Amino acid sequence: MCELYSKQDTLALRRKHIGPSCKVFFAADPLKIVRAQRQYLFDEKGEQYLDCINNVAHVGHCHPEVVRVALKQMEVLNTNSRFLHDNIVEYAKRLSATLPEKLSVCYFTNSGSEANDLALRLARQFRGHQDVITLDHAYHGHLSSLIEISPYKYGQGTDVKKEFVHVAPTPDTYRGKYREDHADPASAYADEVKKIIDEAHKSGRKIAAFIAESMQSCGGQIIPPAGYFQKVTEYVHKAGGVFIADEVQVGFGRVGKHFWSFQMHGEDCVPDIVTMGKPMGNGHPVACVVTTKEIAEAFSSSGMEYFNTYGGNPVSSAIGLAVLDVIENEDLQGNATRVGSYLIELLNKQKAKHPLIGDVRGIGLFIGIDLVKDQQRRTPATAEAQHIIYKMKEKRVLLSADGPHRNVLKIKPPMCFTEEDAKFLVDQLDGILTVLEEAIGAKTESVTDSEDTPCRTKMPREAHLELLSEGSPDQKANPRQKRNGLCADKHSLLSKRLKT
Ligand SMILES: Cc1ncc(COP(=O)(O)O)c(C=O)c1O
Repeated sequence: MCELYSKQDTLALRRKHIGPSCKVFFAADPLKIVRAQRQYLFDEKGEQYLDCINNVAHVGHCHPEVVRVALKQMEVLNTNSRFLHDNIVEYAKRLSATLPEKLSVCYFTNSGSEANDLALRLARQFRGHQDVITLDHAYHGHLSSLIEISPYKYGQGTDVKKEFVHVAPTPDTYRGKYREDHADPASAYADEVKKIIDEAHKSGRKIAAFIAESMQSCGGQIIPPAGYFQKVTEYVHKAGGVFIADEVQVGFGRVGKHFWSFQMHGEDCVPDIVTMGKPMGNGHPVACVVTTKEIAEAFSSSGMEYFNTYGGNPVSSAIGLAVLDVIENEDLQGNATRVGSYLIELLNKQKAKHPLIGDVRGIGLFIGIDLVKDQQRRTPATAEAQHIIYKMKEKRVLLSADGPHRNVLKIKPPMCFTEEDAKFLVDQLDGILTVLEEAIGAKTESVTDSEDTPCRTKMPREAHLELLSEGSPDQKANPRQKRNGLCADKHSLLSKRLKT
């Protein structure tokens, strides 16, 4: 028995009792998910969906080993970290072993936001500096201290950029200021950070930290050019600041060859602070900040205790250890490399076929498909992206669209994703793109909107509605599931951005 209420009653209760700013996926036709296993989610009717959204269920939904370990520890003890316990120290030891040697001191928290908030405190205490350099479109968490340094968020509301926050351009070589045809985009983007530091110094300000995701997720699945972080770190260190690598979304082997995404940049890319969360507990709230002995000692020199009621408790630590074991025992990094490469290869073939695909980028199981209305001008295909995620849902594949223009399809599934899943995803996408491009005449569409403005498609209204109500002709081709009559409605094109 997985349900207390009918789907309609659940929705009504949610509207009544849950804050309206807590959004659901597919707002025009929300899903009720009642159970999950590996890379699949099941709704109240038993329909199976391929989950390409949940990087939190890192080793697979409800992994039996993680569940077994959690249950076993819950039966024995759960308490705070003021008592000595082996789990927390063992977990800290194992995490440190995955990181460069100087990163050896851990603080456990319950969420990525808590981890980033603590990272800012560590950075500010270290040399007494206050200012933070963040990347454009970055998201680092929901606490007040993090909304302040998250242009992705503060730009949406009435909040304005604070004086101590400096925004550097996203090192995006597809859509950003310096692109793939630039001779040295890594240096060009790093020099932008240096300019910011120089300007801040001129006004008497001091840099505490540069914070960035090792690969920007909400920002549109952006992979910074090789060498960028090393150059930025050099400038930031000279200014007396530290480099905080936010690995909350992209850590724990998602990139395949490396355990941490910053490691893709080479052994000389070493942050001063690394924050981690989401995949750590496979859904259980576990997060962590890892830093150097020097920074940790500076933090404790203030005399203030750091206490976190749940952080690093025996159950969370046991779960975290189990996740590490599963990643290793099931060679999930190897799987991310193999399946990710295969998926990127398939998607690149689609790119050659479909004018709506402007760019396919990614590594391991972190992939973005940048949809454009015009290949040359790279005009974001925002409405089309929203349409496609609803159509993919009809085909039982769950994707999200993000980035500053909400035109980037994000693929970040559980790490047990298979080649068969990859093929299935691409086949469905191919069918949907074919129908959509035919309807909008994608190849010949003239474009008048400015490149940097999210714009509505020029598809005739009738074509929209028809596409949205009927589904694509190859619906029968779905080998896994019968249709259940679900249909996105016109609101799908207006659906708001959802952070995941
Ligand atoms: C890059 C990044 N950092 C931090 C956070 C905050 O993590 P949490 O939601 O666990 O507080 C998120 C959440 O989406 C994130 O994407």
